[in-house]
Amino acid sequence: MNDQAEMLRRLIKKTNGETSDNPVIDDPVVNKKARVIAVTSGKGGVGKTSIAVNLAIRLSMRGLKVVILDFDFGLANVDVLFGTIPRYTLLDVIRGEKDILEVLADGPANIKFLSGGSGVEELVKLDRKQIRNILANISILDKLFDVVIIDTAAGLSRNVMNFVLAADQVLLVTTPEPTAITDAYALVKMVSRRDLKKQIDIIVNKAETLREAESVANKLCLVSDKFLSLKLSKLGYILYDDNVTKSVKLQKPFILYNSKCSAAKGIAEIADRMFLGTNEKIVQGAKGFMSKLLSFFSV
Ligand SMILES: Nc1ncnc2c1ncn2[C@@H]1O[C@H](COP(=O)(O)OP(=O)(O)OP(=O)(O)O)[C@@H](O)[C@H]1O
Ligand SMILES: [Mg+2]
Repeated sequence: MNDQAEMLRRLIKKTNGETSDNPVIDDPVVNKKARVIAVTSGKGGVGKTSIAVNLAIRLSMRGLKVVILDFDFGLANVDVLFGTIPRYTLLDVIRGEKDILEVLADGPANIKFLSGGSGVEELVKLDRKQIRNILANISILDKLFDVVIIDTAAGLSRNVMNFVLAADQVLLVTTPEPTAITDAYALVKMVSRRDLKKQIDIIVNKAETLREAESVANKLCLVSDKFLSLKLSKLGYILYDDNVTKSVKLQKPFILYNSKCSAAKGIAEIADRMFLGTNEKIVQGAKGFMSKLLSFFSV
């Protein structure tokens, strides 16, 4: 494993163009990076996939180029919400059989998506050639997209934690259920041990009222600040809405099923708020994300 770590350091340096007189280093096109956003939760079933998919569509409708990476290694669920089964997964890229452009599937509203499949587990044990190949492929996402949304599995597993720590921004989803709140807090606690500066934005889903949602978010922010010294931001709220369950049955994202429903309004507000004040923040992009992820796996 140490071997992988050393290899990575050298490769990252190389692929980052860290040579003394590289003329392309200041080129804005060459340096373009996508914002990598991980959607996660402590407890399962709180609405991560619904939020990832609908937010992606909303951002795309606002003119951003968006790709979803379905890195929920147990059950791939993004494709279920779209009603399409992708032909390829990340594994095909890792094996060198396809390049990234060939494995991106078309979603609604111009978004693209890629299923991690069992490729996510393979990331732990790549050889030098595979690391070079995956970094080269992933860095293409920086050029093609503005936003990379990663739908993760729920929970406090090492894998999920690595995705969270490697992302530029984390959307932490909870519901007002006490178990969901305590599991969300447990996740923040784990992050706080590794990175007190991580940008974590709270989304409260399936609330009965906005007041209830706000109170859940306030509680989480308060305890995280007080006991963990990690400042969370409140990103937005989505109410419990029957349109969500109905749209899932039809395999149609709810903002396309009923753009005026309350859940769609919640998503629209979240999308509006998401990029406020973030322009000046440095993003490490898709390649930075993958480099970081691989280096976590190798320690
Ligand atoms: N705002 C909402 N109102 C009503 N139902 C909702 C809402 N958000 C999500 N749901 C429902 O909750 C269920 C779980 O949603 P989803 O699959 O998005 O959660 P998840 O966090 O991705 O789950 P998992 O942890 O299994 O990946 C789905 O049946 C979905 O229709
Ligand atoms: Mg899911």
